[in-house]
Amino acid sequence: MVSLVRPAEIGDAAAIARVHVATWRTAYRGQLPDDFLDSLSEARYEERWERTIADQGSGVYVAEDAHEVVAFASGGRERAGEIGFAGELYAIYVMRESQGRGHGRALVRAVTAGLRKMGLTEMIVWVLRDNFPARRFYERLGGTYVREQPITIGSALLQEVSYGWRSLDSITY
Ligand SMILES: CC(C)(COP(=O)(O)OP(=O)(O)OC[C@H]1O[C@@H](n2cnc3c(N)ncnc32)[C@H](O)[C@@H]1OP(=O)(O)O)[C@@H](O)C(=O)NCCC(=O)NCCS
Repeated sequence: MVSLVRPAEIGDAAAIARVHVATWRTAYRGQLPDDFLDSLSEARYEERWERTIADQGSGVYVAEDAHEVVAFASGGRERAGEIGFAGELYAIYVMRESQGRGHGRALVRAVTAGLRKMGLTEMIVWVLRDNFPARRFYERLGGTYVREQPITIGSALLQEVSYGWRSLDSITY
């Protein structure tokens, strides 16, 4: 399947927020507290995504199916000072019913093209330790395990792990 990916515009913020909240609720149910997932606000995320899209420092991309945004991803400069990884895939979310159809791979291609334009040649991504489907996706793309650290989301103390690509050329699409 061909996934139509393009850079996000400010007007996409509402659609991105809808995908964001819906995919958090499906992907993280059972991992994050129900009350936290139920309290996620599309309006709050819409504002946040408007700011992120306007900020030149991160690339935000959407994937469309029948002119509807069904997935998004963002990336930019690595945020926490991890040695050896100048770029970071910040987020990637595909609506459950659209998963497994190539959108994720196409979005990674778009994010990495953006990283290259910023002169960033490596990439790291953080994923919840128990989010095994996403981990398999990063492993399928040739990411190698980097390390584990704790993360607090809402009231939940969890573990996250990172995968890295020492060169964007080593991504195995
Ligand atoms: C993880 C996610 C981004 C992957 O995107 P996707 O569109 O479903 O994946 P694609 O269709 O592009 O798959 C690309 C390749 O990865 C493989 N892959 C994807 N998910 C996989 C899984 N769970 N297990 C094994 N392989 C997987 C595909 O089989 C494909 O390889 P192939 O062509 O050799 O078969 C998407 O499923 C998603 O949004 N999940 C829920 C939210 C989430 O966990 N996001 C990540 C947060 S860190």
